[in-house]
Amino acid sequence: MLKQNILEALNAQINLEANSSATYLSMASWCDREGLRGCAAFFYAQSDEERMHMLKIVHYINDMDGHAIIPAVDKPDSVFESIQSVFKMVYDQERAVTESINKLMTLSQEGHDHATTVFLQWYVGEQREEEGLVREILDKIRLIGSGSQSLYYIDKELERINKARAAAAGAADAGWEAKA
Ligand SMILES: [Fe+2]
Ligand SMILES: [Fe+2]
Repeated sequence: MLKQNILEALNAQINLEANSSATYLSMASWCDREGLRGCAAFFYAQSDEERMHMLKIVHYINDMDGHAIIPAVDKPDSVFESIQSVFKMVYDQERAVTESINKLMTLSQEGHDHATTVFLQWYVGEQREEEGLVREILDKIRLIGSGSQSLYYIDKELERINKARAAAAGAADAGWEAKA
């Protein structure tokens, strides 16, 4: 059984993950229209990931005899200034999510809610990975600069990252199957 304050904070986190998923889907759609196929593929996958983050919390709350509430999402921006500004927004968004996870973690520790603390550990690692990845992308964008072919090279870089992530996910699945 979850304490009321933790239940409320977990439901608020569902809202945050659902909004992240919608925002990334909107970014994917914009990238698609701009011809940035590598960036679009990155954001379609990222949107799916955020939905998975949301679903994990839904299942956790309900498994713990709480009630997960599915929120309405805010309409995300549909037009963006530049691909550079999109990734800056993503970085700010991920940092805000990290802060929220950290606050939730503090709440569960102060409430001696060990099950929630263990559950949230996965999110702490996930946020570290996501922030690291977006920092890497921002570094690459900075190095590529703003020459006439910069969009082409940024998109190529995202394609490379997508392939590396798909390979890592495939390896993780294979490891899972080998253990099962
Ligand atoms: Fe997330
Ligand atoms: Fe995220």
